[in-house]
Amino acid sequence: MRRGVLIVGLVTIFVGVIALCTLGRVWADNAAAAVDYTKILPADLVKDTPKGKLVNPYKDTQADAVAAGGQFLLSYSCSGCHGGGGGGGMCPALTNDIWVYGGDDDTLFRLVTLGSDELQKQGYTRVGRENVVGPMPPFGTIIKSADDLWKILAFVRSKYSGDPAYKFGTPPDQQ
Ligand code: HEC
Repeated sequence: MRRGVLIVGLVTIFVGVIALCTLGRVWADNAAAAVDYTKILPADLVKDTPKGKLVNPYKDTQADAVAAGGQFLLSYSCSGCHGGGGGGGMCPALTNDIWVYGGDDDTLFRLVTLGSDELQKQGYTRVGRENVVGPMPPFGTIIKSADDLWKILAFVRSKYSGDPAYKFGTPPDQQ
């Protein structure tokens, strides 16, 4: 009799823990999905998001996001170094198939946010070599929101002129 009560108690606790864990996970997923990119600085988004998990919500086929991104490229003076169309000036082209640290959304967002010195401190190395090699300054608190930076990166993608297979970095089968 005593043992029966004990078993029922243990089972209840077990089921309770599972239920709580599931609830917790659902809650965390919802919280992650609910990030409002217009209200968060790129620097904070990078800090809060595990490496590899940043994905651009905009496609480079979305004309309005791309147009806004092109304006931001000018207003945040990326163009001073990279040229108005991102095609390169004093600094590397953003439109060719050479990606210095990698061409995926996550890496590009972190590079512009942290700058190349901090990115390297976090373990990234130059894997591609552009004709100009120099430091990329950090923009994580200059660009007003993650949304602005995603639009800039959508614009950059829309100007891509390299080998289609390398648009998002070196394809996995070539690494
Ligand atoms: C002072 C000059 C300068 C400014 C301003 C600047 N960049 Fe850069 N950017 C660089 C340099 C230099 C590199 C190469 C970094 C390296 O080799 O570590 C670079 C690299 C990049 C890359 C990676 C290119 C590749 O081929 O992998 C992207 C994307 C980028 N910048 C975007 C931007 C954006 C967006 C802005 C504006 C918010 C911006 N940059 C402003 C100098 C600049």
